[in-house]
Amino acid sequence: MRVVITGGGGFLGLKLAKALLARGALAAPDGSETSLSNLVLLDAAYPESMPTDARLEVVRGDVSDATTIERVVTPGTGAIFHLAAVVSGAAEADFDLGDRVNLEGTRRLLAQARRCARPPRFVFASSVAAFGGDLPPVLDDATTPTPQTSYGTQKVIGEYLVADMSRKGFIDGRALRLPTIVVRAGKPNAAASSFASGVIREPLNGVESVCPVAPETGVWLLSPKRVTQAFVYAHDLAASAWPTTRTVNLPGITVSVAEMLEGLRRIAGASVARRVRFEADARVQAIVKTWPSRLKTPRALDMGFRADPDIDSVIRDYIADEKIDVVS
Ligand SMILES: NC(=O)c1ccc[n+]([C@@H]2O[C@H](COP(=O)([O-])OP(=O)(O)OC[C@H]3O[C@@H](n4cnc5c(N)ncnc54)[C@H](O)[C@@H]3O)[C@@H](O)[C@H]2O)c1
Repeated sequence: MRVVITGGGGFLGLKLAKALLARGALAAPDGSETSLSNLVLLDAAYPESMPTDARLEVVRGDVSDATTIERVVTPGTGAIFHLAAVVSGAAEADFDLGDRVNLEGTRRLLAQARRCARPPRFVFASSVAAFGGDLPPVLDDATTPTPQTSYGTQKVIGEYLVADMSRKGFIDGRALRLPTIVVRAGKPNAAASSFASGVIREPLNGVESVCPVAPETGVWLLSPKRVTQAFVYAHDLAASAWPTTRTVNLPGITVSVAEMLEGLRRIAGASVARRVRFEADARVQAIVKTWPSRLKTPRALDMGFRADPDIDSVIRDYIADEKIDVVS
């Protein structure tokens, strides 16, 4: 089966690509277990070092470009994981860019998916940025999305398109509202939530981290390992397992920055945890305060999705998965 990952050169797209290559199989559109014959990555940029695998095709291009999309999503495509996006801080800073990539790109991809010989399974990376503004203290599966950023708005429109095109039978869609993914490996990115990884990653690597939000700021988070599992699991679930909205809030855990630093101290020592200093940034705070930090996710739990047990396991997984030599 031909499988496409947009954003395949990004943090989560590349992790997903490696996981799919290792797994070697996915459910076909009819639900039967099928081996992965071609894995096509589409991204505007890639890291220098990419996996080498005969099944892998790496395409550099723009998800909002019709010609590129036609080349990547051929009629024989059986599965599409749509992860390419301009992330929150960047989409907020440049409305036109977010509109083109996050909205027009998603629309073009869906239009091309409709041309596949059989309706492909389409997994869409949405976000809890779908929620914002005047929210209840704890959100649940019935909370109406009220995004307060352009990024969140673009994600919610994507969810609606995925649901409507699934209802029409054009695709078999599944949208996951991702918590903030912690710990993000590598360098900080333009996401407003970047601090949540930075306060763990930088100190472990011997670098000082400047946190733009207060220590008591809570973050709804999930690890890269769990979200990669969730993408694959979401893909393989039968269509009948999905609600008509085709969208679920993924499970996560609520952890304050202060609790992250406590975890860091337990695992790596006080000198490492002391490498974080707080310096308020009104722009980041304004975005982050519109996001929910506490959710109940019974639907996703019933469907079989799982959160990390605690922040310590999230930190330990990062150290093990990225082979971090902790600088104490
Ligand atoms: N990481 C998180 O905390 C988080 C949380 C919620 C939702 N998400 C969503 O998950 C997905 C993956 O996130 P990530 O953390 O891997 O982000 P990332 O920035 O590492 O990856 C996104 C990729 O999209 C690519 N891209 C941007 N514009 C493009 C274009 N015009 N054409 C083709 N590719 C383009 C980028 O080059 C990048 O590699 C995104 O859709 C993001 O919105 C992530």
